[in-house]
Amino acid sequence: MSSNKILVTGGCGYIGSHTTLLLFEAGFDVVVVDNLANSSKESLRRVEQLSGKTVELYQLDVRDNDALTAVFAKHEFKAVIHFAGLKAVGESTEIPLDYYDQNISGTINLLKVMQQFNCYQIVFSSSATVYGDPASVPITEDFPTSATNPYGRTKLFVEEILRDLSRADDQWHVIMLRYFNPIGAHQSGLIGEQPQGIPNNLMPFISQVAAGKRDKLSIFGGDYSTPDGTGIRDYIHVMDLSDAHVKAIHKIDGLVGTTTLNIGTGNGYSVLEMVHTFEEVTGVFVAHEIVERRAGDIAECWAEPKLASSVLGWKAKLNLNDMMTDTWRWQKDNPDGF
Ligand code: NAD
Ligand code: WQD
Repeated sequence: MSSNKILVTGGCGYIGSHTTLLLFEAGFDVVVVDNLANSSKESLRRVEQLSGKTVELYQLDVRDNDALTAVFAKHEFKAVIHFAGLKAVGESTEIPLDYYDQNISGTINLLKVMQQFNCYQIVFSSSATVYGDPASVPITEDFPTSATNPYGRTKLFVEEILRDLSRADDQWHVIMLRYFNPIGAHQSGLIGEQPQGIPNNLMPFISQVAAGKRDKLSIFGGDYSTPDGTGIRDYIHVMDLSDAHVKAIHKIDGLVGTTTLNIGTGNGYSVLEMVHTFEEVTGVFVAHEIVERRAGDIAECWAEPKLASSVLGWKAKLNLNDMMTDTWRWQKDNPDGF
């Protein structure tokens, strides 16, 4: 019988922990590798609490060939879901070598070990950042790609590496999911996003202002050519995003070569709409002021998610109110994170 076991790299992190939970619920066994650089073991303990299953965690760096080899020697994997990597755009411009090393060398090491153990199925976390500043919206997968920072470049390079690999060897089944803006948390309030230090992203910043941890939200730019002048993004609930990974694992046997899919809702919301919806849903005021644009930001970005629907049978089900409610429950129940 073929293996039912999935290796989740970066499984202690934000998206990885939610996906691990859904993989358990779908009946898969899960092994996690994570170096805990941006997470804690507590997230998996909560996943165990929610699922009633045990997660085997190996605390290792995906660049460590010996350590990763030992994990593959012990387990037979059906597929790998590869989340592990660094993800802060601003930081990537300050320490580009770290980003290239962890995100690109880390992935290459993982692929080599997979090949050595005849594991040829991988779901890779790509990003809408690979579209750079899109000429129009909604964005389809055939739009031109570009990068404006080292983080984005690591995603582009890894996508190309995966394409080269599957051109060279048709045993590979590669699904690259280009996430739009993941937010929200599991409905239990037990797992969620735990940014270290001052959040870079909008949603954790809003919830920390609401919780009284930060004075006010700075809205980066009020003069974009959007209806209210603030930037528009496609926010997607982390549970919907995680569900896309489970559906990808279900379909991966039949998808030879590379498959590239947008994972978004197809709806765009402005920063002011996000603030006002959060206030309406939670009844909590979010102090904010409009400041200068943030370097590198674009006016609008949202997905055409039809391809994911036809290829995976996946669609986002949760709406903006769900995203706000769940973010706020997680924030209130865990004021200091895990
Ligand atoms: P996260 O930081 O919460 O999770 C990443 C996990 O990987 C962390 O637990 C971290 O400790 C681990 N990790 C980092 N480097 C590692 C290494 N070298 N070896 C082993 N483990 C390592 O981030 P996330 O938001 O869950 O993102 C997961 C993936 O999705 C990342 O690849 C990210 O680039 C991508 N992505 C995220 C977003 C987003 O907005 N959150 C959007 C698009 C794509
Ligand atoms: C959303 C909107 C900001 C913070 C980033 C990465 C992208 C992907 C997702 C990984 C924008 C505005 C934000 C704040 C604000 N990550 N904003 N005040 O920039 O769309 O995407 O995360 O792959 O690669 O670039 O997300 O949440 O930072 O910003 O006004 O304090 O909120 O200007 O319009 P972004 P974000």
